[in-house]
Formats: sequence, C-alpha cells, structure tokens
Amino acid sequence: MRHFQPIARVPGDPILSLMDAYRADRNPAKLDLGVGVYKDAQGLTPIPRAVKLAEQRLLDSETSKSYIGGHGDALFGSLLSQLVLGADNPLLANRAAATQTPGGTGALRLAGEFIAQCLPGRSIWLSDPTWPIHESIFAAAGVRVGQYPYVGTDNRLNVEAMLAALSHVPQGDVVLLHACCHNPTGFDLSPRDWKRVLEVVKARELLPLIDFAYQGFGDGLAQDAFAVRLFAAELPEVLITSSCSKNFGLYRERTGALIVCAEQAEKLQDVRSQLAFIARNLWSTPPAHGAAVVATILADCNLRAAWSNELDSMRQRIAQLRTGLVSALQTHGLAERFAHLVVQRGMFSYTGLSALQVSRLRDEFSVYMVGSGRANMAGLDAERLDQLASAIARVCND
Ligand code: LMR
Repeated sequence: MRHFQPIARVPGDPILSLMDAYRADRNPAKLDLGVGVYKDAQGLTPIPRAVKLAEQRLLDSETSKSYIGGHGDALFGSLLSQLVLGADNPLLANRAAATQTPGGTGALRLAGEFIAQCLPGRSIWLSDPTWPIHESIFAAAGVRVGQYPYVGTDNRLNVEAMLAALSHVPQGDVVLLHACCHNPTGFDLSPRDWKRVLEVVKARELLPLIDFAYQGFGDGLAQDAFAVRLFAAELPEVLITSSCSKNFGLYRERTGALIVCAEQAEKLQDVRSQLAFIARNLWSTPPAHGAAVVATILADCNLRAAWSNELDSMRQRIAQLRTGLVSALQTHGLAERFAHLVVQRGMFSYTGLSALQVSRLRDEFSVYMVGSGRANMAGLDAERLDQLASAIARVCND
C-alpha cells in the first residue's frame, strides 16, 4: 500500500508563491510588488535600528532559553496592549489582555479556534475582498465564513453596501474588520464610517474581530488605532489581532498577539484560560525572540522614540511613492485613472488592473503583483517609477 498515493497537489499560496517566481526571474529589471514587505531605497527590507540595538542588548543579557508561558511574555503583552489600546485605557486595569502568538496570522488562527470551540455555530463575516488567507484560516478552524461587500468591481469603497449587508448578519455572529490599511485594497473607513459600522455592530450584537496588522503604516500609531479604541470603549467585548511583522520589521520572527477586551475581569480570565488551552494544542508556547525585542523597545524611551521615528519615515516614504507613481502615470495620460493610489492607505493598493493585465505585467515586464490587482506600494523603487508607469500604460492601452 502506498499511503501517499491519493494525495493530490494543491496550488501554491497566492502571495508567498510570488516570492519564488520573482526569485527565479532572471530579468535584472524585475520589480517585486507582491508579498507585503517594506523595502527601502536600496530595495532591502531593513531591520529597524531600534530592533538591532534591542537584539544586542538581549544577546548580552539573556540567561535562559526556557519556555515562556502559554500567554507568552507578560511584559510584551502588557506593552503591546498599551500600544494598541492607548496607555491610559481603563480597560488595561483588568479587562483587557494579550495572548502572544506566532505573528498576526497565529492570532487569527487562535481566534478562529476560539470561535469554533467556545462560540459554536457562529459564522464569521469577512470583507469582500479580503486577505485571501483570512478565508482559509477560519475555514480550517471549522468556522463558517460569509462575506459583506467592501470594494466593488468599480474599485470603490462602498460603505452603504457594507452597512446594509452587516445589518442582515445573524445576531451574535463575528465580523472581521480591518483596523487600517485594508489588505488588499488600501481603502480605509473614515471615522464617520467607523461610527456607523459601530452602530450596526451594536444593533446586531455582533462580536468584532479587528485585524490590526499595520499599526503605524496608515496615518500614525495613534491615528491608526482609532477604530480599535472606539470599539473597545463602546462595546463590552472585542477581539483584536495585532501584528509586529511590519511595524517592527520582525516578519520572520513571527510576533503578534490576540488581545481580548471583556466586560468583567473574571470573564476575561475565563476566556484566557480557553486561549491558553487552545494555544497549547496549536503551538504549545509562542516563539520568544521577537516579543522580547518588542518589549525591550517599548520599555525604553530612547529605543521607542528611535523606532517610532523610523516607522514615521517608512510611512512617509510609502506616501511619496504613491504620489510619485501617479505623477509618472500622468505622462501616459493615466493620472486620473489611478488617482485612487494616493487616497489608499498602507502598503497595499488595489490598482484596478485586471487579472489579464497583471499576468501581462509579469510575463512581459517582470512586474510581480497579486492576481487580484493588489500591488505592494512599499515594494516600489523611486528610481524606477517611470519604468513601472510605462509597463502599466502598455497593458492598459494595448
Ligand atoms: C501580505 O498580505 O502580503 C502579507 O500579509 C504577508 C502574508 O503573510 O501574506
């Protein structure tokens, strides 16, 4: 008997497989706008200086590699919760706490398992479109997945359609919201829109699961937390998945957390006991290094200031690249068609390019982006915006 005989091959991950295809491309003029990693002017994904300094400190002072607990590093959890919810948030006294996870993806999977095991029968509602892995994570956890409209085929944010759909979601279901820098579209809700979403969430008694993977990449650390803090203040129960991959440049260190806000301190402990139990069955205890780096930075005012300044420059650079690309497209009469690039926030832009145009860009010009037309603006090279604009013009005008 050959046990593996019936096993079929599945297609590669739509985002990660682009990294392999890009690496294999021998064209020296290739451009990688696929996976969401920030690149600097040299085309490198830098390790922030504060991270390097914190790592040096840890290297010198670390005395043990013993396990950290099921909820992870307590200092990390506390400082990250302050960063997300605001240092003076009264919830932090005893009604909100973080469970450290392997990246934001781990936090999402933990949330999925928690919903499946502790809130059976609840569906989760995702924006259409959303990060493709959202759907597979919740499906893998056994949670039924539904969709609410977000950006239509006209590549515009449709808040009215979103609100109308959410107001028909079964009472008590879970709704996944992107706190900022919506992945894949880059279209974010305004504060006014968020207040309207909050009213629907209250009316339908939905449980919000807020995915917060890009804090600091939209408009600033505090500004990007607007929705998270609003929902945490106005609702009795909120789940937040936070990632340190992008804002601390810790991608491969897999550093994130699931933050739970509960109505009573006792109930928070009940929920946390379940999370520790679930996490034990998923990854036992989380990886320590990235969380120790984050805790070292956030606990030290000099490192923290250096990190936050570097994050500001990353955000400003992305904004300049967005404007620069639209100016380069102007030469080809395409500035108006791509004006949304400067309205969108964060790393990603739903360009509005079709799947066919995306594959032509790849095959003819070695420009790599996700088939949905999502481009990682943080992967652009300021010196090659004209090259990219000409390639886009070719596939749009042919
Ligand atoms: C992305 O969407 O490109 C990033 O969040 C990286 C990933 O894990 O997919």
